[in-house]
Amino acid sequence: MTDRSLIELARAAMRHSYSPYSRFPVGAAIECADGRVFTGCNIENVAFGATMCAEAVALASAVSVGAREFLRIAIVSDGKTYCYPCGNCRQLLSEFSPEIEVLCVRGDGRYVSYPLTRLLAESFGKGQLG
Ligand code: THU
Repeated sequence: MTDRSLIELARAAMRHSYSPYSRFPVGAAIECADGRVFTGCNIENVAFGATMCAEAVALASAVSVGAREFLRIAIVSDGKTYCYPCGNCRQLLSEFSPEIEVLCVRGDGRYVSYPLTRLLAESFGKGQLG
């Protein structure tokens, strides 16, 4: 799958965003090592802290059917700036694939791509628990 196709899947998922409070729709598409792709959108809640990010929804969808290894994730918004994953989502992704490639996409389709190791340097990982 090309970067562009993954981005288009994320953009399609963004249309299902439930974001009446921020009015900031986000979509994500995560590619598994075995080629499967799972998508998600942000799901907000009137209790703001209960909001779920698009990446977290895509990851949960994948993990809940047995996927454990991921190669790439595309994160899309309609914004003028690249849609970077929040800190919590970086940590969630790191649990399964610390080296996943993260495509951060703007509304106009332009994107930047980083390995998660760069976005989440010197992180708390499984090694710390002994
Ligand atoms: N959001 C995501 O879905 N992913 C991120 O990594 C950053 C933020 C959502 C949460 C909330 O619904 C909206 O964007 C504004 O913060």
